[in-house]
Amino acid sequence: MRHLISPLDLSVEELDHILTLGQAIMKHPEKYTHICDGKKLATLFYEPSTRTRLSFEAAMLNLGGQVLGFSSADSSSAAKGESVADTIRVISSYADICAMRHPKEGAPTVAAMHSEIPVINAGDGGHNHPTQTLTDLITIQTLTGRLDNLTIGMCGDLKFGRTVHSLINAMVRYPNVKFVLISPKELMIPDYLRKEVLDNGRIDYIETDQLEQHMPDLDILYMTRVQRERFFNEEDYIRLKDSFILDVSKLQNAKKDMYILHPLPRVNEISTEVDNDPRAVYFKQAKYGVYVRMALIINLLGLGGEHNIRLS
Ligand code: NCD
Repeated sequence: MRHLISPLDLSVEELDHILTLGQAIMKHPEKYTHICDGKKLATLFYEPSTRTRLSFEAAMLNLGGQVLGFSSADSSSAAKGESVADTIRVISSYADICAMRHPKEGAPTVAAMHSEIPVINAGDGGHNHPTQTLTDLITIQTLTGRLDNLTIGMCGDLKFGRTVHSLINAMVRYPNVKFVLISPKELMIPDYLRKEVLDNGRIDYIETDQLEQHMPDLDILYMTRVQRERFFNEEDYIRLKDSFILDVSKLQNAKKDMYILHPLPRVNEISTEVDNDPRAVYFKQAKYGVYVRMALIINLLGLGGEHNIRLS
């Protein structure tokens, strides 16, 4: 049985299988409408979500399966003090696969240890968000035709943004990928990422608090929200929340074929006027997330045929 807790749980080759299947589903969704008939997905969400939970549910429904779950800790027995380990033991007999989001880093790992069904990490605290990474990768691949030879600007809250952490971990495995990490000093990437992943891997990267200066170099600009819920005090959040606001004027020197991604939700960091720019692809990105989650569910349930990832 396979779980997906960190983006590194999938080898580059396995990722490629999932992305290829995601692309095939995108072209012919009608071919996959019964592949999960009789299967159930449980969504266990202890933290707010719109896209991730609903795209998982849409993915399972599109595959002919059914969904059950809860969308806040308050409405589950967590409010009574039940542990993640006990909850997952029970859910294992109600569903065939589950997606879990939790404010505590490592909670989905604990769940996987006690689970009899595949567990997908749908975001654990400020740590990882591997299915957002699948979404980001299929978006980049579909639009640029590649995952190598890219200069990726990441802008905003690089400290607490789990989508940033997962995407860096995934992208360093492709040749000639460079990073421009744009953030206020207080919100730079965590030390472990800098040392263990970027420095250790001899990855080409710079850290800066200047967005416009680096704009002409970027193939991808990945904007992120300042993660209010992970701050220790509101004053710091208020001081930092509008550090970077992307507007039309800042895009003047960007490449014509640069793409702007954002995991969403957006707060202030991209002005709505940018939405009309053909380079703004964040809504398309959210749509692609359904196809790639369909491919992931098919694979983790072992229904992928030639596209199945190896089970270990
Ligand atoms: C992200 C998350 O939950 O980490 N949202 C999402 O899943 N698309 C990004 C965010 O909340 O800022």
